Amino acid sequence: MNDEARIIQLPKFFDRRGNLSVIEENGALPFAIARTYWIYDVPGGEKRGGHAYRTNREFIVALSGSFEVLVDDGRERRSFRLSRSYYGLYVPAGTWREMSDFSTNAVAMVLASEPYDRADYIENYRQFRRYAHDQQSR
Ligand code: TYD
Repeated sequence: MNDEARIIQLPKFFDRRGNLSVIEENGALPFAIARTYWIYDVPGGEKRGGHAYRTNREFIVALSGSFEVLVDDGRERRSFRLSRSYYGLYVPAGTWREMSDFSTNAVAMVLASEPYDRADYIENYRQFRRYAHDQQSR
């Protein structure tokens, strides 16, 4: 599997009137966007995520503030701090991910490749490890 979690830079238009970044279909992302959601008003110390998806791929942007995203492909764990709105973290399918350490007023925008489907979630870490192992030994 060569599809790794990675930071993707977005176009940025710096302007003294304020900056602008953009995401469009067939642009910087390796998938077509089916859904957008955002996470906000996170109380200090709370965590979000803590699951993997079988099929869904995501791109996470800190539209405001900052937070940490831990990604685990079953072999390696990596942590990314997202803090600017002109780049984001691409998270491939089959990745355990957890979001934590949200700053005050942090807003996490998530672009997703699939419509919402609870059956696509793997919510148990041990089950995820088995799933990742099976996928990798294919
Ligand atoms: P969930 O993905 O479980 O959030 P987290 O893993 O960060 O805790 O979603 C929280 C709630 O929001 C859950 O009741 C399902 C609902 N939800 C939708 O209805 N549609 C969506 O696209 C998402 C992401 C969540």
